[in-house]
Amino acid sequence: MNRRILAGVALLGTLALATTGCAGGTDGGGNAGSGGGGDELITVGFAQTGSESGWRAANTESMKEAFSEENGFDLIFNAADNKQEAQIQQVRSYINQGVDAIVIAPITVDGWDDVLKEAQDAGIPVILEDRTVSASDDLYASWVGLDFEKEGETAGQWVADKFDGQGANLVILEGTTGSSAALDRATGFASATEGTDITVLDSQTGDFTRDGGKKVMEGFLQKYGADIDVLFAHNDDMGLGALDAIKAAGLTPGTDIQIVTIDAVKDGMTALANGEFNFIVECNPLLGERAAELVKAVVAGEEVDKRTIVEDQSFTQEQAAEVLDSRPY
Ligand code: AHR
Repeated sequence: MNRRILAGVALLGTLALATTGCAGGTDGGGNAGSGGGGDELITVGFAQTGSESGWRAANTESMKEAFSEENGFDLIFNAADNKQEAQIQQVRSYINQGVDAIVIAPITVDGWDDVLKEAQDAGIPVILEDRTVSASDDLYASWVGLDFEKEGETAGQWVADKFDGQGANLVILEGTTGSSAALDRATGFASATEGTDITVLDSQTGDFTRDGGKKVMEGFLQKYGADIDVLFAHNDDMGLGALDAIKAAGLTPGTDIQIVTIDAVKDGMTALANGEFNFIVECNPLLGERAAELVKAVVAGEEVDKRTIVEDQSFTQEQAAEVLDSRPY
């Protein structure tokens, strides 16, 4: 192409960007166009799972705070109401809008290959936060999240330490079916309780919601009544829903039925400090800052780690009472 034609193409490109108000695209290598440098905002499409739990609310807030205009981002936010097809559609819409980067908190592990390939073909880098996918890691730039298997293992270890040797009966409230959070927590918990004399009476999904936890626990109580010694809920919200069912059945949570959950959000920690829960394994929802750093680096064409794991802790009733007032979420 001669110089005059090149200049014409450049001018047309500038005009097209000006008229569409686009914050800049990416080239084939995932590097930033106008969005990556200077004072221009980086346009990011964030596909959130939904608003199923207190953890999710804290995660959404952390993402919105980190991806603010002040920090150099133009955030397009969508929550998919826990529906995988809707979330995939939203990612396609971000691709069509030509955003600079896409962040996904994937609802389930499977089903991502095609749309991740479409983003890659369009030269749009994808960063995963929170949950993982089964698709090849060549299809996304990076992931930041928690070690769900270790969380399940820590919960299982607490149950094993407390109940092994007494022949305890356990029920489990699982998270969203097919999500990495539910799958990995189940694996970790099972490995920690393997070989003990703890009997799993039942295990069903409550979809990470309070309503789900309440309904499934009501069913467990109808079926097994006071035979239940311990409940493992894959998140605080389902455990909180189960509290209502346990009280309505005339039993005392934390005493008649001991309860271990995962998340450590304010309501869960309050129930722990009050003696209604017995143990909580933390799942840190404050991933926004790290996700924003990754997006900036990837859009600038820098090398980033494929996986970043954020450390969790765990809490007894006494520890919860000590830290309750200082918890940020
Ligand atoms: O993926 C993290 C899990 O999703 C949290 O533990 C749960 O509360 C949320 O809905």
